[in-house]
Amino acid sequence: METDVINIETGSPHVFRFDNIMDADLCDELISYIINHTDKVQNATEEPYGVSFPYTSYPPELKTKVEHYIEKVTNLISSLYGKSLKHDCAETLYWKIGTSMDFHPDAMPMENFSEERIQNEIGIGSSIFTRVFTCITYLNDVDEGGETVVDRRLITDPPENDVSHFVSKPNKGCAVAYRTYCTHKVEEVKSNGRFTMAMFFAEDGKEI
Ligand SMILES: [Fe+2]
Repeated sequence: METDVINIETGSPHVFRFDNIMDADLCDELISYIINHTDKVQNATEEPYGVSFPYTSYPPELKTKVEHYIEKVTNLISSLYGKSLKHDCAETLYWKIGTSMDFHPDAMPMENFSEERIQNEIGIGSSIFTRVFTCITYLNDVDEGGETVVDRRLITDPPENDVSHFVSKPNKGCAVAYRTYCTHKVEEVKSNGRFTMAMFFAEDGKEI
């Protein structure tokens, strides 16, 4: 039987933290898939922080489990956001020890881009405008480092002196979800590798 998801208070309407959202068995299965396929899977792409695998490259049984998980998360975030969402992509990532990522938003308002750049980027990069939510699921415990640090405000909010962040510790089966306009970073992974599943969402009916 599935355990109930626990919704942790983050102090922001734009940031959510869920405990017990992914089954421990699915976490283990995904990690073992990543470990066993790091050098083999054709679709795996080397990122500066490690290796990523789109869920569409998984074997059928694992893919079905992930699809159920995606549906569960999509419904949960849609109900909290108050609008129907669809997922843009889902991928598992392996962050090696020593990797980190600086503050960035996962989407930008269109007005921050020139007409020319929009013309060039719509089609291949249009998700930078249409993604409204990111969800990062932690597949393992990272004892030291690897926290997701999220600004509780949107980049479109008026600037304030008080910058406050929500710090999400990588705990197995837990997840952090935030509006793509919230800047965020990943602290350096220090003790052991960090395995995550990243998912992005757009509003249903909007082009991705
Ligand atoms: Fe990000």
